[in-house]
Amino acid sequence: MSAPKLIIKNLSKNYLLSNKKTVTALKNFNLKVFPGEFVSIIGPSGCGKTTLFNIIAGVEEQTFGTISLDGNIENSRQGKFGYMFQNPLLLPWRTIKENLILGLDIKKVSKEIAFKKAFSLLKEFNLEKYEDQYPSVLSGGMKQKVSLLRTLLFNDSFLLLDEPFGALDQITRQSLQLWLKQVLKKFMTTTLFITHDIREAKLLSDRIIKL
Ligand SMILES: Nc1ncnc2c1ncn2[C@@H]1O[C@H](COP(=O)(O)OP(=O)(O)OP(=O)(O)O)[C@@H](O)[C@H]1O
Ligand SMILES: [Mg+2]
Repeated sequence: MSAPKLIIKNLSKNYLLSNKKTVTALKNFNLKVFPGEFVSIIGPSGCGKTTLFNIIAGVEEQTFGTISLDGNIENSRQGKFGYMFQNPLLLPWRTIKENLILGLDIKKVSKEIAFKKAFSLLKEFNLEKYEDQYPSVLSGGMKQKVSLLRTLLFNDSFLLLDEPFGALDQITRQSLQLWLKQVLKKFMTTTLFITHDIREAKLLSDRIIKL
């Protein structure tokens, strides 16, 4: 087996509340993820799943512990992951293609190249007719698809997906699970996936971690 892509060692996070009390959101968490793996993280509400992703993605700082990427401890992790938030936002005043390129804007990719990439991705997943539409014309499931494609466009090598299908009905959810499988196969992406749904975790994952 190849070397781990991600190694998390003894990761802990304490939050200090305004009343000076502390909340331990994560305690001594360890994980290795290998290239191309799909690993699901399940656990009850409030157990620290989103906190874990925020720290991995470099949105928040850990209190203790280290995170290594491709064998080296990596302290500046911003931009190294495609992170789809628990409640992803499509900006209502930007068209679908403008929403898709948000991450590339941050990376200072030229508009021309960014739109080309966005279009070919939309086309590949049969959504190209929506490129100039606004998010309000999309169904809930389609919005999640577009959010996922936006995340992939930002970084298709390592995804952090925080309950991407949590708000969808069962039928839409099942079709998106199959769709996601197909997408990830195409990009050979390494994925960490948060879900409450054990069936979903079993269907999609190589490994399931209980937090
Ligand atoms: N910015 C913050 N300040 C203080 N406490 C926080 C903060 N963010 C999270 N917490 C606390 O840390 C714990 C873990 O929260 P987190 O959002 O990681 O849970 P979760 O496992 O993602 O839950 P859910 O399944 O409901 O999304 C909770 O007790 C929460 O109240
Ligand atoms: Mg959460």
